[in-house]
Amino acid sequence: MIKTKDFHFLIMVVVVVGLLTVLYLTGRPRYLSRTQPHLAAASDAECFTCHDDGKVFPMAKEHPLRKKNCRQCHRFERPKG
Ligand code: HEC
Ligand code: HEC
Repeated sequence: MIKTKDFHFLIMVVVVVGLLTVLYLTGRPRYLSRTQPHLAAASDAECFTCHDDGKVFPMAKEHPLRKKNCRQCHRFERPKG
């Protein structure tokens, strides 16, 4: 018989691993192109002027839930070499 204590530990392990997986999948960086607007824009408000619904390049429906602190996930790719 598996002890209740061990069972709780197992559940905790599964929960923690699951959470990290979700964070990994949604927190992947998606690099910005080095175009003028991206080089210049710093605040979320500036990003929204082009990437909100109905603008030049709206975010996809399946865009990760978090729609603030854009720069946390969207950075410039480090130059190669
Ligand atoms: C003046 C309009 C404008 C502003 C401001 C702007 N973008 Fe963009 N963005 C674009 C356009 C147009 C594209 C598509 C062409 C390209 O990739 O350069 C794009 C593409 C992107 C992409 C997709 C790149 C890809 O590979 O699919 C991301 C992510 C992005 N922008 C994030 C941001 C973030 C974050 C900000 C704020 C710091 C921002 N943008 C500000 C116009 C803008
Ligand atoms: C939690 C991380 C995260 C944050 C915060 C975030 N994004 Fe994204 N974004 C992504 C990922 C991952 C993708 C790629 C989605 C895909 O390929 O299906 C993406 C894709 C995009 C794209 C490309 C078009 C699309 O929807 O696939 C644009 C434009 C964009 N994001 C703009 C923004 C803006 C503007 C903000 C801030 C208001 C923002 N993002 C905040 C993770 C994030």
